[in-house]
Amino acid sequence: MSEAITGPEAMKRAAALRALALVDSGMLLGLGTGSTARWLVEELGRALARGELTDVRGVATSRQTETQAAGLGIPLVDLPPEGVDLAIDGMDELTVGLDAVKGLGGALTREKIVATAAKRFVLIGDATKLVAHLGEKAPLPVEVVRFGRLRTERLLTEFGGEVRQRLAGTEPFVTDNGNLVYDIHFQAPFDARSLAARLADTPGVVEHGLFLGMAERAFVATATGVDEVAG
Ligand code: A5P
Repeated sequence: MSEAITGPEAMKRAAALRALALVDSGMLLGLGTGSTARWLVEELGRALARGELTDVRGVATSRQTETQAAGLGIPLVDLPPEGVDLAIDGMDELTVGLDAVKGLGGALTREKIVATAAKRFVLIGDATKLVAHLGEKAPLPVEVVRFGRLRTERLLTEFGGEVRQRLAGTEPFVTDNGNLVYDIHFQAPFDARSLAARLADTPGVVEHGLFLGMAERAFVATATGVDEVAG
């Protein structure tokens, strides 16, 4: 019988440990962002310190992850042209078909650059992230350049959801790339592939948080164990 996993942090750690088991010495890793990816970085640091893994380097998807990884002595590099061996990251929503929403932490653009440059992309999270359709629990984050933002915001309202600019306190939230984030709150299911294509075609949009069919698998923690969702 599997051991009970008590509390949200233990669940995040359990999912992260399952993904860490896919890491081999010598790999170049994409290191995700957020409270679940934080456990991955933490445990990677420990595995390197104990000598269980050697010669692993990382590409950080945010300044936050960069700071954490550097503090743990994990060697970091810029994303090379050939990409990374394996990228591991958290998710805000996940369907059983491995479609995900990401970006509530604001790192969606760097996360997508790294995930699409990965030979293998693995998502980690707890079962609260599972949804029947995207947009059910979380808004869809969209990173937008500052220039012309009011016009871009107007274009985003045409996709059927309620568009809200993300704030950090009373000030606009600013990404690591110096851009703004708008969150689209949908009240009804949407066609994710068609929306992804339309967002990619919208001037002023840098990136959106739809990560569709990109992950080879996800590790989803529950109170009784970690389930694997595979493609
Ligand atoms: C960061 O921009 C996000 O994509 C995170 O990966 C995502 O929000 C999951 O974060 P948590 O693990 O903190 O829920």
